[in-house]
Amino acid sequence: MKNIVLIGFMGSGKTSVGIRLSYRLRRTMTDTDRKIERLYRMTVSEIFERMGEEAFRDMETQCLEKLLRESRGQIIAVGGGLPMRDHNRELLRRLGTVIYLRVRPESVCSRLAADTTRPLLQGEDRVKKVQKLMEERAPIYESAANITIDVDGKIVDEIVDEILEKTEGKR
Ligand code: S3P
Repeated sequence: MKNIVLIGFMGSGKTSVGIRLSYRLRRTMTDTDRKIERLYRMTVSEIFERMGEEAFRDMETQCLEKLLRESRGQIIAVGGGLPMRDHNRELLRRLGTVIYLRVRPESVCSRLAADTTRPLLQGEDRVKKVQKLMEERAPIYESAANITIDVDGKIVDEIVDEILEKTEGKR
C-alpha cells in the first residue's frame, strides 16, 4: 500500500482533508508539524522563536526521513514550507503519491485571519505576506505533486471524493 501525501499552503486544508481521508480509507494519519511538536515538546511557534526557522526545516527533513523508513499506506500531511527544499521534494516523491491542495490567497487570508500559530504570518501586512509566499511557492508545489486539486469553494468531503477518484489504482 502506498502512502498518500498532502502538500499545500498554510490554510489549504491539509489537516482536515487528511483526517477525513484517513476515516474514509481506514488508514492512519500523520502530520509532520504535530510529530515534530511531540518529539521536541514545543509548539512550532516556540521552535521558530527559540531555535530559528532553519532548525525547524532540519527537523522537517529528519521527520520525512523517518517516515520514509517507517510508513506504509498512511495519509501524511506535511507543513506548508516543507516542499521548498530540493532534497525534501525527492523524499516526498519516494514517500508516496503527492497531492497538492491548491488554494487561492484570498481564501488563506480569510481562513487564517485570526490565526496565531503560524509564525510566518504574524505581524503587519498579512495579506502581502501570503501573496508573496504563495507566488514563490506555487510553482514548487506544482512541480512536487503527482496530482493537483483546487480546493476553493469545496467542502472537505468533495475534496476527499476527488482525491479518491484521482488516486484510484495508485494507492
Ligand atoms: C509553515 C507551515 C506550517 C508550519 C510552519 C511553517 C510554512 O504548517 O509548518 O508554521 O512555512 O508554510 P501548515 O502548512 O500545516 O500550516
